[in-house]
Amino acid sequence: MKHAGLVARMSLEEKAAFVAGDGFWHTRTLPALGIPSAYMTDGPHGVRSPAEPGKSSDFGALLESTAFPTASLLACSFDISLLEEEGRALAEESRERGVALLLGPGANIKRSPLCGRNFEYFSEDPHLSGALAAAWIRGLQSGGVGASLKHFAANNQEKGRMIVDALVEPRALREIYLASFEEAVEGGRPASVMCAYNKLNGSYCSENGFLTREVLRKDWGYEGFVVTDWGASADRIKGLEAGIDLEMPESLPPKAIAVAAAVRAGTLDHRLLDESVDRLLDFVLSSPVVREGPGPSFDRRAHHELARRLARESIVLLKNEGGLLPLAKDRKIGLVGELARTPRYQGAGSSFLKPTRLESLVGALEEGGHPFDFAPGYRIDRELPEPSLVSEALALARRVHAEGGTLVVAVGLTELLEGEGFDRSHLRLPDNQADLLPQLAAACPSLVALYVGGSPVETTWLAEVPAFLVSYLGGQASGAAQVDLLYGDHNPSGKLAETWPLRLEDTPSHGNFPGRDRRVLYKEGLFVGYRWYSSARRAVAFPFGAGLGYAPFAYSEPALSATLLAPGRELRVSFTLENRGARRGKEVAQAYLSFPDSALERPGLALAAFSKFELAAGERRRVELVIDTRALRHWDEKEGRFAFEGGRVLVHVGGSSADLPLKLALTLEGEPLPPSDLPRLDLGKHPSELSDADFAARLGLPLPPPRTLEPFGSDSLLVDLGRASRLVSLFTKVMVAVSARSSGARRGSPNYRMVEEMIAETPLSRLVGLSEGRLSPGLAAALVELAKGRPLAALGRLFGGGDSS
Ligand code: BGC
Repeated sequence: MKHAGLVARMSLEEKAAFVAGDGFWHTRTLPALGIPSAYMTDGPHGVRSPAEPGKSSDFGALLESTAFPTASLLACSFDISLLEEEGRALAEESRERGVALLLGPGANIKRSPLCGRNFEYFSEDPHLSGALAAAWIRGLQSGGVGASLKHFAANNQEKGRMIVDALVEPRALREIYLASFEEAVEGGRPASVMCAYNKLNGSYCSENGFLTREVLRKDWGYEGFVVTDWGASADRIKGLEAGIDLEMPESLPPKAIAVAAAVRAGTLDHRLLDESVDRLLDFVLSSPVVREGPGPSFDRRAHHELARRLARESIVLLKNEGGLLPLAKDRKIGLVGELARTPRYQGAGSSFLKPTRLESLVGALEEGGHPFDFAPGYRIDRELPEPSLVSEALALARRVHAEGGTLVVAVGLTELLEGEGFDRSHLRLPDNQADLLPQLAAACPSLVALYVGGSPVETTWLAEVPAFLVSYLGGQASGAAQVDLLYGDHNPSGKLAETWPLRLEDTPSHGNFPGRDRRVLYKEGLFVGYRWYSSARRAVAFPFGAGLGYAPFAYSEPALSATLLAPGRELRVSFTLENRGARRGKEVAQAYLSFPDSALERPGLALAAFSKFELAAGERRRVELVIDTRALRHWDEKEGRFAFEGGRVLVHVGGSSADLPLKLALTLEGEPLPPSDLPRLDLGKHPSELSDADFAARLGLPLPPPRTLEPFGSDSLLVDLGRASRLVSLFTKVMVAVSARSSGARRGSPNYRMVEEMIAETPLSRLVGLSEGRLSPGLAAALVELAKGRPLAALGRLFGGGDSS
């Protein structure tokens, strides 16, 4: 322990209280011992700054901060140094506000494009996700502010996030879901890791000793502290046993009494409590922000410009037939789409920010002096087409066509369709947009579609659209960045960090997302995202890694640093990259591995290295990608460790997972493996067709039985109790309204919906702690009795208090 002397001076009660927060955003202070408090807030796309950080979450009274592009867009930069730069800027903003710990980044894997929180995550690929998260952390922490890497682990959906049991087989867990965190932890050394709400293989992440003690601390050598996600703590004693150091937020009634009693009774080893106190103390006492207090003001203008640059380096050009883009600067364009005027630039939920400035596409065109005529075309507060808006937009499209001009159409997901706390149920654009787009294309074939949204949509209309640009949720300067690219002031260089599928049914998790009966079966195993499409040879709308620029790049003359490689040694692949265009540009070169003779189940391709290179027009350059030894390993479930399989390995290099012109072979030294006796996924079928029995064999665990709703008890959800009792359902509505009002979430807004889902879907025992006193243990027990149809017992509970089990 680093602070053994200080820990020894704390009483048991002080220690038990110290391992839980003070209010919503602070650690506890112990003035008599000279222990100050540390302030933390969300993350990750800016510094969410409640005007008065206190007891509750807040969406209303926020101070202004720069809204940088969301992770979904930033990941498309594939640019490590850019992420570091963002981290440094976030540190400046944090320090102005006295924030010692910024809650981010999110390194969860995008298992399904339906996940409502995908905008906050980087990729479907663990290496890309982990490397970018590590860069963000390094940048932030170089400015003296701690990061909190989240949500550890397998938090890949919002539906049922408080209760769902993610069932993930060992190889998929280690090679995909944990690998993203592993690279972020090892490459970034975050001050803290935040455990997820859900269960993993039968145990809540907030009390999962396998995750925290074995994987995080023992396997990865992690020395920072672990904090619960807000309200994730189910059984705090088990949590401390598992090595979860800090419970957030402060729960009411506090669990400190129970923690101290458990130590006294010898049911919780006092050394475990001491170790948690020590790890937390270490952060608080070594934080420069805690020591020095709020720092100087950050440069608003410079950070806005950075937000613009980050967006511009990340926006992805996916189609550009006939060189429709870039647009001619002096020619008037037609612009359709309410989203061009009322931009979506961030996601809803805990990462919600009040920006310092906001540039829409309409505003940025005006500012840049680009002539255009505008028609909104559709409303964003409803999905049904509005005939007057449709005819106005079509008239504009016809006029533009008659004048030989180009029409730019902004389409995308509206804010009620995605956000923290809920998932989408389909991949379509809102009806009013999906109907309008083909009509506009028929009226004006020279059409550029510009997409905004946190996650992919089905692009059934793509054949009629010659140019397509994907801007995701691009932050407060996204309008200006879009203009930079549309008019060619900058050459697009973003590449997709996730596959755009043709249809929802094609996605490998389909049929097992979001699961049911409180469990979700990850039947697709290792075959997440492009690993599935490339192995099963399924067509997609746009492959992982794809993206165009205004200058084409060519790859040639590949060479490997070794053709016989010892396990554990890094590998380098060099090649000639040529900019064959007439303008300077950047190219994200990618190297993938395949294992053609493997005895193991292996994806057809796995990203092993990437780098972004800038080349002048016509330039040819020899470049190199470094393949980390991690890319060559697999998880050996029998031995419980990573291992290397001897044999042939192919290295594929190119500009996307579906465009890999260079191929080289090497031999990895070592023994070939005997074939695994586990049932395999049949690549000719959809992963959902794997039987439960075969899945259980791969999982190495019996499947937990589906959870029945009854008997009702402290683990029940208000949504379930409400189905049995009208009074409970009424109570839930009131509680949602009161909580939303106190946190400033407007009715009808996505933040309101998050509050609603959170209240309806958090087990009662945890909701009590989160409710800031609105739901007492006695009231919770009374609600359970009401749902059981026992009003008298409910009264007894209400006035006698108590246990609802
Ligand atoms: C989210 C976390 C966030 C925390 C604090 C939770 O609901 O899942 O990502 O950091 O709230 O706002």
